[in-house]
Amino acid sequence: MTPAKNTTSPKLTESEWTHDAAGLAALAPKDFTFGVATAAFQIEGAIREGGREPSTWDTFMGQPERISDGSDASIATDHYHRYPEDVRLMKELGVDAYRFSIGWPRVQPGGVGKANREGLAFYDRLIDELLAAGIRPMATLFHWDTPEPLQHAGGWLNRDTAYRFADFALIAAEAFGDRVAQWVTINEPTTVTLNGYALGIHAPGATLMFDSLITVHHQLLGHGLAVQALRSEDVVGQIGIANVHSPVIPYGKGFKTGAYAELFDLIHNRIYADPVLLGRYPKFPRSMRTIFRPLIEVDDADLAIIAQPLDFYGLNYYMPTRIASGAPTDNTMPDGVWAAGASQLPFHIAPWPELPTTSFGWPVAPDYLRVALADYATRYAGKLPPVYITEGGASFVDTVQADGSIDDESRTAYLAEHLAVAFAGAPGVDVRGYFIWTLLDNWEWAAGFSQRFGLVHVDADTQDRTPKRSYRWLQQLLGARG
Ligand code: BGC
Repeated sequence: MTPAKNTTSPKLTESEWTHDAAGLAALAPKDFTFGVATAAFQIEGAIREGGREPSTWDTFMGQPERISDGSDASIATDHYHRYPEDVRLMKELGVDAYRFSIGWPRVQPGGVGKANREGLAFYDRLIDELLAAGIRPMATLFHWDTPEPLQHAGGWLNRDTAYRFADFALIAAEAFGDRVAQWVTINEPTTVTLNGYALGIHAPGATLMFDSLITVHHQLLGHGLAVQALRSEDVVGQIGIANVHSPVIPYGKGFKTGAYAELFDLIHNRIYADPVLLGRYPKFPRSMRTIFRPLIEVDDADLAIIAQPLDFYGLNYYMPTRIASGAPTDNTMPDGVWAAGASQLPFHIAPWPELPTTSFGWPVAPDYLRVALADYATRYAGKLPPVYITEGGASFVDTVQADGSIDDESRTAYLAEHLAVAFAGAPGVDVRGYFIWTLLDNWEWAAGFSQRFGLVHVDADTQDRTPKRSYRWLQQLLGARG
């Protein structure tokens, strides 16, 4: 992969880019934030402790054949008990910031009413531990763990969930508003709608296909109301959202392929980012207006709430998407899970045989991070606050050597190449930081423990943590900063 151009920086060869941590560190913009990111349900475990009650994922993971390796997240990485060790790992790594999520069913177990003191106390301890270690806390309020009673009432299909979410945001603001440096309201509403409500491969497992689109609006409304709630408490931290962006490329010629790529761009990217940054849903092609009716017939007052000014914008980037005409011949989704509904679609996601792939089969395409930034510069010119890459990372099969070490060269190279692009940025986008997904090998949703994204290997039986080569490499890079 050709490194990003940076005229003021020393020239490096390709292998130096991936192996010379200090050389890469020299290219990092001044004050660039390096962080790691996690999510409560994927790491905490202790799902029946401290007054926590079930979320929609607790229910989903208990259903037959939902999780590819048959595992569940009841212990996950036991972070609930081992957080001091995990903060120590971050401190030794040398990161500036830690993005974690506050479990809604831990803090407000039924999704309504009073806060659970024990739940608040856990995040109090975590935040204080981070601050004592000199690490800035970035707290996500919703990383997919809807309290089960709210799911019974329809979850994000029900407009009321947006208001319940704002109440939860207020609880978090009152409790942690004096210490959290940055707030993320919602993580990847795209994934919740597409995987959770359209295709049924994530909780709650609904297969509504295009009838799921109202969940987009309700999540975004929840985002806007949560921003208002945080502001009403005068939180000291900055406020943003984390949207995933995948540049979409038509694969093959012809009008139809172009139209399907445009449709995918709408359902994956634009309908989440446009309202937040521009205060309106995109203009839908006439032929697609019936599908998008729930997002056309919306109240202007809702759009005003959704478009609250933000202090920063979180962009999660993993891969680009190639769209080809024709129903999929195999319904396996990019995260390896079977989605029956996909066969109803007149298009499919095509592979990238010319690129290396992660163990999820995702193309490794750092150049498309640059394209993602350029998309944002064009689409949201003049409206885009400073950007943090709030997630980026890769799953690879890691082999534990006889001496216990883990030489994850592919992950190290992945990170080097993506960081290089983030450092170079793109004209019109002020990239302020990059949060690596993720600190620990964790419970990867429908893939269970079968996909490892961590800088730190976790033995699911002993919970022993072993830093991988990528961790050591990043440690060197962060230590080499001026
Ligand atoms: C999610 C994470 C997930 C990661 C890798 C992101 O979409 O926010 O929770 O583990 O992708 O699949």
